[in-house]
Amino acid sequence: MKDKIDNIKKAALVEIAAAESAEGLEEVRVKYLGRKSELTEVLKGLKDMSVEEKKEIGQISNVVKNEIESALATKEMEMKAKKFAELDTKEKVDVTYPGEKPAAGHTHPLTKTRYEVEDIFSSMGFLVADGREVEDEFHNFDALNIPRNHPARDMWDTFWFTDGNLLRTHTSPMQVRFMEENKPPFRIIVPGRTFRFENADATHESNFHQVEGLMVDESGKLTVANFKSVMAEFMKGLFGKELEIRLRPSYFPFVEPGFEIDVACPYCGGKGCRICKQTGWIEILGAGMVNQKVFTSVGFEEGKYEGFAFGVGLERIAMIKTGVNDLRLFYGNDLRFLEQF
Ligand code: DAH
Repeated sequence: MKDKIDNIKKAALVEIAAAESAEGLEEVRVKYLGRKSELTEVLKGLKDMSVEEKKEIGQISNVVKNEIESALATKEMEMKAKKFAELDTKEKVDVTYPGEKPAAGHTHPLTKTRYEVEDIFSSMGFLVADGREVEDEFHNFDALNIPRNHPARDMWDTFWFTDGNLLRTHTSPMQVRFMEENKPPFRIIVPGRTFRFENADATHESNFHQVEGLMVDESGKLTVANFKSVMAEFMKGLFGKELEIRLRPSYFPFVEPGFEIDVACPYCGGKGCRICKQTGWIEILGAGMVNQKVFTSVGFEEGKYEGFAFGVGLERIAMIKTGVNDLRLFYGNDLRFLEQF
């Protein structure tokens, strides 16, 4: 009996040593320690043995059982250690290694400019309103006192749809839409995309952006002086300092009188430089006191309200602010260009 147990042990240790996988090792465990194993049979047979035999064989069997168990445990640890050692060389991850920064991108210079303009006007209590890019003839033209066959329509080369709608040529139609829904007093700006059927060059694109402004109150409450002070505040916010402003007479059908606004060149202080083309002044936007015809086209009583409107090109502001002299660069999406801002 002792020899038998000894043989079981030897055979078990040989097989444990030879096992190559966790599954193989488990098979060995079942074979030598399982319910149907020879050793279990021996232990089961103990009850039929004499007291001395029981004591002796029982003790030996238990020692062998423990030996096999610990051999199994040792082998299992070895296998795990080997596996980890392999992983360590094959799939090593150095968690302390500095990571690669994902390229996050940033706001486009035109978007940045729009945010700046929005911030400046919001701080003066203007509401930022949103218009639509596909407009109808009434809002883009007729209601703004630009009836069909009016020569002023030539100022806006238009993309027409076959159904008579169009891509808005300016943000001004939102003046009309806003007044159709809201009664004065109010002050709004409308930033947005605009479209003109024209060839691209350094200062023109068929697709560009404007910011419309409109402030209206009861007659007698808003004057050109108010308008001028709003513009001065706008320029101060944009260029970070007080700058002189100049109004020149101009014509837009939806304002009377109409102006062109110039600002003293923020770069040379009026002496003349590349940015202001040696004039000391930079032409910044078109504006005027709202033509009463625009009010009547939205159903307001003539003479009841007064206000001012303006329209400014976002690209133009971005160009003045950055010194970029070709507007097409803003649309080229060349990262070497964009990353500078
Ligand atoms: N809508 C004009 C344009 O696209 C710009 C403009 C001029 C807007 C005068 C105005 C304004 O509101 O009063 O050329």
